[in-house]
Amino acid sequence: MFKTSFGCSFWLRTIIIWVGILYYSIPQFYYLKQTSFLVNVVLTDFPYLCFMRKIIIAIDGFSACGKSTTAKAVAKSLGYAFIDSGAMYRAVTLYFMKHNVSITDPKAVSKALQQIEIEFRFSTENSRNEIFLNGLNVEDKIRTLEIAKHVSEVSAIKSVRVEMVAQQRKMGKKKGIVMDGRDIGTEVFPDAELKIFMTADKKVRAERRQKELLERGDVIDLDEVMENIKHRDHLDSTREESPLRKAEDAWELDNSDLSMEQQVDVVLKWVDQKIEKLEQASSVQS
Ligand code: DC
Repeated sequence: MFKTSFGCSFWLRTIIIWVGILYYSIPQFYYLKQTSFLVNVVLTDFPYLCFMRKIIIAIDGFSACGKSTTAKAVAKSLGYAFIDSGAMYRAVTLYFMKHNVSITDPKAVSKALQQIEIEFRFSTENSRNEIFLNGLNVEDKIRTLEIAKHVSEVSAIKSVRVEMVAQQRKMGKKKGIVMDGRDIGTEVFPDAELKIFMTADKKVRAERRQKELLERGDVIDLDEVMENIKHRDHLDSTREESPLRKAEDAWELDNSDLSMEQQVDVVLKWVDQKIEKLEQASSVQS
């Protein structure tokens, strides 16, 4: 069937446009919108998601700032894909630890990288993207403090970064993606339409991470979590390869005193602003 540049079929697009015209011109449709959630979704949200300009949202920041939770909620609200790039480095770390790969041996590292296949699959059961390492779901295995203790060293290796960045860029080819990490706005997608740099008070971050670990059944002392966060902040921001830094054009979001809903709202407002600006710019050009 004939495809438009929007990715929808011609007839689907025609039907949606006509439904839209009827929806906004016939009073009964307003009544329907108020009475049925499904009608609301089908008539309003679906056409909106279908025609909306898609952008890349890059979220960077220190460990345990709530980047992934925010990114996930933003992606869900926009119908975008969500990629937790840190999970990829954690999966590589898991593989290296399991197979005793020496990170000081470049040959062993590049041989191991050839054996690693990482993919994200959406779990309808848990309503989230889960990471698979060589076909095995490792979503929970990569979230332990043990992995956290080694991941910064592994993610500082150039060949590891080259491989991960190449895969991340592929994932963002079609836009409509929210990716969080340390170098997303500076290295992976330097042309991302919206770049956010998240920060939060160290103690708040340690408490959040401790709670997260506890929910997984790991009881860890707050001081130990804090030490790990400090250590990773230091390694991530001082390493030679793509150190963590705020991109010049990134917008800073300090979420120390914000609830999850509040930070998601801020980001969604920024997305609207950015898209509006892009629309204005393209209408001036044409
Ligand atoms: O976001 P996280 O804590 O799951 O990330 C784990 C580690 O991976 C972090 O210490 C730094 C590294 N990382 C990176 O170097 N680049 C990214 N884009 C994402 C994570």
